[in-house]
Amino acid sequence: MKPVELAKDIFWIGAVDYNKRNFHGYSRSPRGTTYNSYLVRDEKNVVFDTVDNDYAGTMFCRLAKLIPLDKVDYIVVNHTEKDHAGALCQLVERCKPEKIITSTIGKRFMEAQFDTTGWPIEVVKTGDVINIGKRNIHFVETRMLHWPDSMVSYIPEDKLLISNDAFGQNIASSERFSDQYDRCVLEKAIKEYYYNIVLPFSPQVLKTLELVAALKLDIEMIAPDHGLIWRGKDDCKYILDTYRALAEQKPKQRAVIVYDSMWGSTGIMASAIASGLEDEGVPVRIIDIQKNHHSDVMTELADCGAVIVGSATHNNNVLPGIADVLTYMKGLRPLNRVGAAFGSYGWSGESPKIIQEWLASMNMDMPADPVKCLFVPKHEGLSQCVALGKTVAEALKAKC
Ligand code: FEO
Repeated sequence: MKPVELAKDIFWIGAVDYNKRNFHGYSRSPRGTTYNSYLVRDEKNVVFDTVDNDYAGTMFCRLAKLIPLDKVDYIVVNHTEKDHAGALCQLVERCKPEKIITSTIGKRFMEAQFDTTGWPIEVVKTGDVINIGKRNIHFVETRMLHWPDSMVSYIPEDKLLISNDAFGQNIASSERFSDQYDRCVLEKAIKEYYYNIVLPFSPQVLKTLELVAALKLDIEMIAPDHGLIWRGKDDCKYILDTYRALAEQKPKQRAVIVYDSMWGSTGIMASAIASGLEDEGVPVRIIDIQKNHHSDVMTELADCGAVIVGSATHNNNVLPGIADVLTYMKGLRPLNRVGAAFGSYGWSGESPKIIQEWLASMNMDMPADPVKCLFVPKHEGLSQCVALGKTVAEALKAKC
């Protein structure tokens, strides 16, 4: 349980949660996660963020290997969500810090979540700088990235950006740095994290990237609060460029079909639609929502410009799994997609129309009417499904 030195007198003192599977209560984290906390040792010793309360002991153990706990002078709270502020009360109790530094909304959120009576909270805003000896900490508020309280801290003397949730990934591992880890898995983890957590705040991501460029911050290390630390100019550029591309959401020539089926008919329709897409040269993935998590659908969407959703009609509505994934998707606000709807039915047959309206409410281009098949799809119904796939493929190609 050793701390990890990132640069001279700068240490990772966080915790690795290998078995975290339900991240923040809504997103799947198949590789676990880490709660990254950092110590900067200087004339003033500063801790940046804490960890989930379950891992407070782990963090304090690492911290105590570097300085006695009562020698922490400042605590910077970049974000008050409990995976980072979970151990804050215990840390304040043990350290009795001279200052607890946070944003205006951070103070409000801290007061709403904890008993902060007597806490020496100091509010900072974008552009404020605090000297801690050989170093200066610059603060940049990043509101709605991904909470209103969010901010990042920059230390120019070390070219270090402590970025809180931004640029994180849900990866639990012994490795601490991006250059130590399998790049393909890392790339997938970035997409999972972005598309399930950051996506609705893409406009703020683009604004923040512009702000970082305008401030001409010289960055050689980005230390997020989850996952691996981006080390070196090349990897910092990689993650900044990746975030820009993810935030821009330019359409990609690939499709995902998500469906839920009662007796297999909607699944057969999904395969026929996939054939139509493939005939037109558009690769596709079919996701049966009964066997996959809604987070997997969103991760897939990172590489797909088209989303085609199907459900059997159930009690004059869609099946619950499709209601779940569409609710989740709509909240995450994907942009620039082509959509389409389909489903089988026995008598009333409302679900394809309901799905069509749901996708249209996400501002998707809807190039075709929904396709529905009575009970088991026959030749004519399957031909309509193939045609639907082809129509979506053409609309997508025109958009890319
Ligand atoms: Fe990782 Fe918004 O907490």
